[in-house]
Amino acid sequence: MVPRVSTLGGYIFEYQKSVTNPTGFWAHVADSFFWRKKWDNLLNWDFEKAEIKWFEGAKLNITENIFERHQFYRANQKAIIWEPNDPSEATRELTYQQLFDEVKRFSNALLKAGVKKGEVVGIYLPMVPELVVAMLACARIGAIHSIVFAGFSAQSLSDRLIDAGASLLITADGGFRGNKITPLKAIADEAMDNCNCVKTAVVLKRTGETIQMKAGRDIWWDDFVAGVSTDHEAELMDAEDPLFVLYTSGSTGKPKGLVHTVAGFMVFTAYTFRNVFQYGDGDVYFCSADIGWVTGHSYLVYGPLLNGATSLMFEGIPTFPDAGRYWEIIDKHQVNQFYTAPTAIRSLMAMGMEWLDGKRLKSLKVLGTVGEPINEEAWHWYHDHIGKNRCPVVDTWWQTETGGIMISPLAGITPTKPSYATMPLMGIQPVIVDQDGKELTGNSVEGNLCIKYPWPGIARTIWGDHERFRQTYFSTYKNMYFSGDGVKRDEDGYYRILGRVDDVINVSGHRLGSAEIENAINEHPLISESAVVGFPHDIKGQGIYAYVVCTNFSTGGEEGIRQSVLLTVSKIIGSFAKPDKIQLVSGLPKTRSGKIMRRILRKIAEGNTSDFGDTTTLLDPEVVEEIVQGKI
Ligand code: PRX
Repeated sequence: MVPRVSTLGGYIFEYQKSVTNPTGFWAHVADSFFWRKKWDNLLNWDFEKAEIKWFEGAKLNITENIFERHQFYRANQKAIIWEPNDPSEATRELTYQQLFDEVKRFSNALLKAGVKKGEVVGIYLPMVPELVVAMLACARIGAIHSIVFAGFSAQSLSDRLIDAGASLLITADGGFRGNKITPLKAIADEAMDNCNCVKTAVVLKRTGETIQMKAGRDIWWDDFVAGVSTDHEAELMDAEDPLFVLYTSGSTGKPKGLVHTVAGFMVFTAYTFRNVFQYGDGDVYFCSADIGWVTGHSYLVYGPLLNGATSLMFEGIPTFPDAGRYWEIIDKHQVNQFYTAPTAIRSLMAMGMEWLDGKRLKSLKVLGTVGEPINEEAWHWYHDHIGKNRCPVVDTWWQTETGGIMISPLAGITPTKPSYATMPLMGIQPVIVDQDGKELTGNSVEGNLCIKYPWPGIARTIWGDHERFRQTYFSTYKNMYFSGDGVKRDEDGYYRILGRVDDVINVSGHRLGSAEIENAINEHPLISESAVVGFPHDIKGQGIYAYVVCTNFSTGGEEGIRQSVLLTVSKIIGSFAKPDKIQLVSGLPKTRSGKIMRRILRKIAEGNTSDFGDTTTLLDPEVVEEIVQGKI
């Protein structure tokens, strides 16, 4: 088993070891895995060039560490408990043996279809167990999975498939979410029409919708696996072979395909899962994230399964059929650890206490949050009413780029403080720097959050653009990874994440780049320019405020333009990226060099009407006045 600390003294001791002798520390953690060949060189790194390699020379397969490693004593234990969108539909359970057989069968089917090691397979599926089967089968044969969240539009899907060069796409006829059906196949059809790379589409039947099947390209999942053997020997992978590409938004340009590699990701997610959640044998763990985001990759699938855990997977949404759904699932399956996003907590809190009536929640031992800062009120509600004052809340800070949790309490071990991610995990060396890159030492300081030493889970590159990787994360501050987050270290040395310091907006825990939303809005034929900023939102954490320059209202008037801007964003990105507020303006505040002064727009979006700081570089101060007054 992966080593686990169980006391505060143990944490302090292990942390010290991990900082004074990082390679010795990680070698010890890695020893608990199953390697076909051990590494020659544990760590090789150069932050200047953004080159990081862990466990070089080692040979392994991550799925052997999930299945073969646990085979003898976990074969009949539940690996996945699946709870459907509609509670009247039956729950599905897969033991480790059943999941293993499905993974091997699907691995053979992929090989039969000609998928080779190193090829990218796109996955666009709802939250069903086949999604786990598909991703693990890719990992088993050495194909690189690239999962696209099933809320993304056809254009976003095709952009990602093209960038990754996916040759095969795994999708479904549709997906259930609350009382809605997402027509996934129709969206995937449109996406595939726009890209030449996808030659085969495997289609899972989930909703039973009538769909088009294109001859020579599309094949039903059941036909794809029919008659295929469940004997499969895992492909031997190099430690640094890519495991997956996952797209995420940055402050500029198009989304980046972050690449995680096999061995480092495995060691890091397994170790952090076990220690943060203090998972014990027989526990039922429920992560409510979608596998389309990194939380689902690391802490619904890989981290738990590498520990032989029982991972609960939920297809639906927290408010269907009513706002007591999560609590009902927790009671039904006797969940011990529950991991969700602050947005979900805030929205359920806002719906009132009656949804907790009759819910016992007695099985809960640990509560977790991730994805955005959690405000004190939500923290207390979660702690008092869900955890009944007896479950530690682990506020876990990390990112798509970090692969796994970086700063977090260890459940029941680290004393918590509402809205603080508390202390760095073993092997993580955070530093706080000021604007000039000067390290701010000691306590009671605030600045930008950087990490000065590599950890095994760090992303290795951006798919097809290593220079962008270097520039984005390693060029702002010398010899450090820059997270893009602001942070405070308080008088006790505890870390509190303050939110992004760049143009990334975190809406309901979904990460969006302002440039990405602006580019979508600018596709609207009547919009010449736009600027998007975040503003504080009671439920979503941040909302999206769009200032749009529109010079022609001939069709539909102002309201018509607003509606069509919303439609455009839904079509180009997905409906989760729709602005909450759209203000039509005649121009945007710009500097003489043509740069939009977002600082001012952010203040206005927050409700400020004066006190804009230094505005001497503004080209046209009248524009600001007009925006404040709401004039076009
Ligand atoms: O701003 C931080 C916020 O989410 C960003 C990373 O988003 P993403 O790559 O989509 O990964 C989300 C799930 C790991 C971070 O830069 N964030 C994440 N966790 C926290 C957080 N902000 C405050 N507190 C957290 N616990």
